Amino acid sequence: MTTLPSTNSTTAAAAAWVNPLRDKRDKRLPHIAGPCTVVIFGITGDLARKKLMPAIYDLANRGLLAPTFGLVGFARRDWADQDFATVAYDAVKQYSRTPFRQEVWDRLAEGLAFVPGTFDDEAAFGRLAECLEKLDAERGIDGNHAFYLAIPPEGFPVVCEQLQKSGLACPREGSWSRVVIEKPFGRDLRSARELNAIVNRVFPEESVFRIDHYLGKETVQNILALRFANELYEPIWNANYVDNVQITMAEDIGLAGRASYYDGIGAARDVIQNHLLQLMALTTMEEPIRFSARALKDEKVKILSAVRLAQPFDETTARGQYSAGWQGSEHVRGLFEEEGFSNESTTETFAAITLEIDTRRWAGVPFFLRTGKRLARRVSEIALIFKCAPHLPFDQIMTQGLRHNALVIRIQPDEGITLRFGSKVPGTAMEVRDVNMDFSYSSAFTEDSPEAYERLILDVLLGEASLFPVNEEVELSWQILDPVLEYWAAHGRPESYEPGAWGPSSAFEMLQRMGREWRRP
Ligand code: BG6
Repeated sequence: MTTLPSTNSTTAAAAAWVNPLRDKRDKRLPHIAGPCTVVIFGITGDLARKKLMPAIYDLANRGLLAPTFGLVGFARRDWADQDFATVAYDAVKQYSRTPFRQEVWDRLAEGLAFVPGTFDDEAAFGRLAECLEKLDAERGIDGNHAFYLAIPPEGFPVVCEQLQKSGLACPREGSWSRVVIEKPFGRDLRSARELNAIVNRVFPEESVFRIDHYLGKETVQNILALRFANELYEPIWNANYVDNVQITMAEDIGLAGRASYYDGIGAARDVIQNHLLQLMALTTMEEPIRFSARALKDEKVKILSAVRLAQPFDETTARGQYSAGWQGSEHVRGLFEEEGFSNESTTETFAAITLEIDTRRWAGVPFFLRTGKRLARRVSEIALIFKCAPHLPFDQIMTQGLRHNALVIRIQPDEGITLRFGSKVPGTAMEVRDVNMDFSYSSAFTEDSPEAYERLILDVLLGEASLFPVNEEVELSWQILDPVLEYWAAHGRPESYEPGAWGPSSAFEMLQRMGREWRRP
């Protein structure tokens, strides 16, 4: 007979002890996706080549995919499996984040297959179903499938319909079938609703994963840690202390080669509707009751419902198109010289808007959002600019170098956080000047941050939905933006701006009118 430990305290300790290797919350244990297959529609596109296939390889390399993982490409190409494998190999070699290891590739390559066909070809979807069945049987995949729609939104309805007809949208009991959709989710509220209705007719909302790759970035996830894991910031995170908030996503590249996607879309639809409004929601939402997809969604929906555009639009918004000129030492083409853009195009490559939030926490604080191509540098950041001290006991001349305190969340590059505040300048005078206190990911942590797509693809396979906007968030974002898009459409051409600048002059005037100025990151 087994003898049990005799003292109560030992018994209690034994009962309380959880084997760390068996506790699934143990932070040392990676989350690994179970056996499954990902089908990519749009496999010949840039996104699949530069981001998706490399991210899948990186996940495999980090040991986060099951060894039997399957990857199927679907496209209108006369390819055999081997041709697809060559394309995937090139993409992985060229764009993966982690080092290439032949044995990882060889194992991944065993699960590759290609199905040729067009979206309206029922027989091709029949072949896809057969291919998946074969992979399931050979590799013990158990019918778990993710369908990744890396295609223009016009293709969504027909692909969803075909997945339904071929039975692929409906998983066997105990298995899952998920759909992943890339932006743009429509071009306004009406089209987004139509699109959501089509997708939701085939896939229940919990099986729909909408990609906003900004949410997969480490620094973006850190916004919630910064706000809700610390005591330091919450007391000042409101209209009593914050003067204004500036959210910037600037790029130094132009639009060469992207006219077919970008013309008619423009900067506001491309970036503000999704990435910047999501950043704003994370920065301003209340604390979720727990860190779950449902609770996060509830708070984001609540705050987005309280957001509105400041008016009048001719004073509170700005838009522009980059002209030809010098960007640093390089002479670059203007928008109209880029292939595919006509002289008539009114598509904006720079957009800035002012938003307000009707809640007790944020009433009266302007939120300035801006994005643009061919700006001075590539930088994405969220800056909370605080009010000035109500009184300074120092000689005015001694505080000329003192501006507003600021907390800057540096999304990229040079990921980290900067706190700007006033400090005494060494010397005999009581001179006070701005200084920066910096936290930088690269010096604080030894691990490299994974690519956003690695994190998001893994979460799809794990069924973890926290980092994916739900249909309500998407529709609310369009509802916020639609009035200014309509206003711009009725008001002629955007102003032109020099490459390498920070946008058109109207963007500067927009803040000056409100007695504020943009940060120059
Ligand atoms: C995409 C936009 O969502 O984000 C592109 O469609 C933009 O126009 C890109 O270039 C920028 O992403 P990142 O991660 O480089 O900031």
